[in-house]
Amino acid sequence: MAGRVAGKVVLVTGAGGGLGRGFCTMLAAEGAIIVATDRDAGAAEAVAEETGGMAFALDVTDEDGWARCIAMVGERFGRLDGLVNNAGIAMLKSIEETSLEDWRLTMGVNLDGVFLGCKHAIALMKTTGGSIVNMSSVSGIIGGHNLAAYNASKGGVRLLTKSVALHCARMGYGIRCNSVHPSFVETPMVEAMVAATEDAERARQRLVRQVPLGRIATPADIAPLVVYLLSDESRFVTGSEMVVDGGVTAT
Ligand SMILES: NC(=O)c1ccc[n+]([C@@H]2O[C@H](COP(=O)([O-])OP(=O)(O)OC[C@H]3O[C@@H](n4cnc5c(N)ncnc54)[C@H](O)[C@@H]3O)[C@@H](O)[C@H]2O)c1
Repeated sequence: MAGRVAGKVVLVTGAGGGLGRGFCTMLAAEGAIIVATDRDAGAAEAVAEETGGMAFALDVTDEDGWARCIAMVGERFGRLDGLVNNAGIAMLKSIEETSLEDWRLTMGVNLDGVFLGCKHAIALMKTTGGSIVNMSSVSGIIGGHNLAAYNASKGGVRLLTKSVALHCARMGYGIRCNSVHPSFVETPMVEAMVAATEDAERARQRLVRQVPLGRIATPADIAPLVVYLLSDESRFVTGSEMVVDGGVTAT
């Protein structure tokens, strides 16, 4: 099959959500073999069905789950060419509003999940080389008064990515690792954030006003960058923070 990632085996976490699903759709259209994973098994199944891939129920905070998942990919395909550490959660809370439980939950999914994904995927990927894409956010670069745990977790993803990239380069594994930093994207995550405010329409307009390009992104605005990073077109790109934010961080 022709395509920019033709024949590559790509595992996506949080594949059942807004961005994960968008990534799987575009990657499959470009010829990738999709391993759709999510803690919501039904959502992963649905995406696997849509993309002709396979599904695996994986909570990214579960190290045994990662070990089983990567072992399954190894047995089935003998290699892993791409990993998108996409699963994530967000809480609109300031430092004073964030409980230790909130903090640990956010760090668990957003940062432990990426750590475990990189660690376990590298073990299989290093046999043939590959590309890891870690979903950070503009919130991993600039702060927000009500995103204490989210900011910290996404900033962590940004620098963990660089450490992974440098280690893999030094070891000569042929594995690249980059982070992706979108601003607001139309997904259930942003829907829930907006809906939790007193005036959802006003909250949405406030988000739009922060974006120089004047709109909230869609998953299809972000997916081409992920396809690029997983393809051989980006063969000299590693340890990079790729911003795709409609100009938010330029202001
Ligand atoms: N939507 C945005 O505006 C935006 C902006 C920048 C970055 N991001 C990041 O992009 C990624 C995807 O976000 P989204 O907007 O598609 O979110 P979403 O809420 O639409 O989807 C998230 C998916 O992750 C899954 N998930 C949650 N916890 C999990 C866990 N412990 N293990 C496995 N799966 C789990 C959910 O079931 C869901 O399918 C996240 O890392 C998010 O932080 C989103």
